[in-house]
Amino acid sequence: MTTPENRRPALAATDPELAALVTAEEQLQADTLRLIPSENYVSAAVLEASGTVLQNKYSEGYPGKRYYEGQQVIDQVETVAVERATSLFHMDHANVQPYSGSPANLAVYLAFLEPGDTVLGMSLPMGGHLTHGWGVSATGTWFRGVQYGVRRDTGRIDLDEVRDLARAERPKMIFCGGTAVPRTIDFAAFAEIAHEVGAVLVADIAHIAGLIAGGAHPSPAPYADVVSTTTHKTLRGPRGAMLLSRAEHARAIDRAVFPGLQGGPHNQTTAAIAVALKEAATADFSAYAHQVVSNARALGEELASRGFDLVSGGTDNHLLLIDLTGKDVPGKIAAKALDRAGIVVNYNTVPYDPRKPFDPSGIRIGTPALTSRGIPVQEMGTVAEWIDRVVEAARTGDEAAVEKVRAEVKNLMDAYPAPGLPVG
Ligand SMILES: Cc1ncc(COP(=O)(O)O)c(C=O)c1O
Repeated sequence: MTTPENRRPALAATDPELAALVTAEEQLQADTLRLIPSENYVSAAVLEASGTVLQNKYSEGYPGKRYYEGQQVIDQVETVAVERATSLFHMDHANVQPYSGSPANLAVYLAFLEPGDTVLGMSLPMGGHLTHGWGVSATGTWFRGVQYGVRRDTGRIDLDEVRDLARAERPKMIFCGGTAVPRTIDFAAFAEIAHEVGAVLVADIAHIAGLIAGGAHPSPAPYADVVSTTTHKTLRGPRGAMLLSRAEHARAIDRAVFPGLQGGPHNQTTAAIAVALKEAATADFSAYAHQVVSNARALGEELASRGFDLVSGGTDNHLLLIDLTGKDVPGKIAAKALDRAGIVVNYNTVPYDPRKPFDPSGIRIGTPALTSRGIPVQEMGTVAEWIDRVVEAARTGDEAAVEKVRAEVKNLMDAYPAPGLPVG
């Protein structure tokens, strides 16, 4: 029988405490319905690649131009990752070394801006990311962040506001894409605005990279100067990031990542990125990407029919932003009750939220992880019903109802084992 001890014998022998924690996390990921839209389950192949001896090697520099010897193998690993990235996303150049999405974005600032220069990005409470010039981020303190939002009446990005701000503020760089944006990003419209004011257009596709790779969201390739992405969300790779760009920006991007911001790349992550990119180029992955969207759309419809207020009225992608004001339950109380029921979400601000970010009005949910388990669209009614029951239980303080949902969630999770996790 496979036990945690014989799956990880060295870890179990050296550090039983940590071995037990890894096993506990495995169990949690197996037993719960993970609806955080930025999370996923990587394949066993990606998991294996990310836990290899490649992590023992230092390789500052780029293939063929390193500052350490012994790169006979690592150069090949990175070259394969770069080739797969440029081919999958149809961009001229790829840098696969950023440690994660935030340092990747900071590298873009370093490549194109001087401190104090203006950047136009979506504001955090409206769905943008911290690194798009928000005040508490280095990107909003070292640079001058000007922020756009969504329209109050539609919950959608206000492109008129983006154009007006761009004309008035003349940013050197414009970010599009975000972290809580349930609708298609109109890359062409952003490019038109960026060209008009002479700004570099950065498409941050961290959330939707897998959908783009699978053809379930339009590609920024024809429009963006730089494409920034994490590799661990819908793309279903290891925790890491990539910067893709037009050929003319390749040198600036590479110099900004190394030596500008980072030292040695994490080669085990590079290998796992390469594996994830190979997987993402398959027909199976394309089906997965489309299924993520179908599941999100169905879940949105099921929730709306139960009286949930969806920001922008629904979704075009993998995520739903839900304003719980009408349900009379704050986002944090709902998220914590859902967690107790084995349904993992995050509380989130909604546009024009009167509440504070640490205690906001909404929750954010998404379908990438449940779709990786193969949970079909027919089950979205069940998922919506669970959310409804738990939110109501959170309002009335009915802990028994929460417990009941937890048992039902566990049954469905047992029926759809997650990739990369040992069964049983
Ligand atoms: C749009 C966007 N960009 C960048 C990031 C930053 O990625 P990381 O958490 O890997 O630094 C995120 C993470 O949530 C994101 O949603």
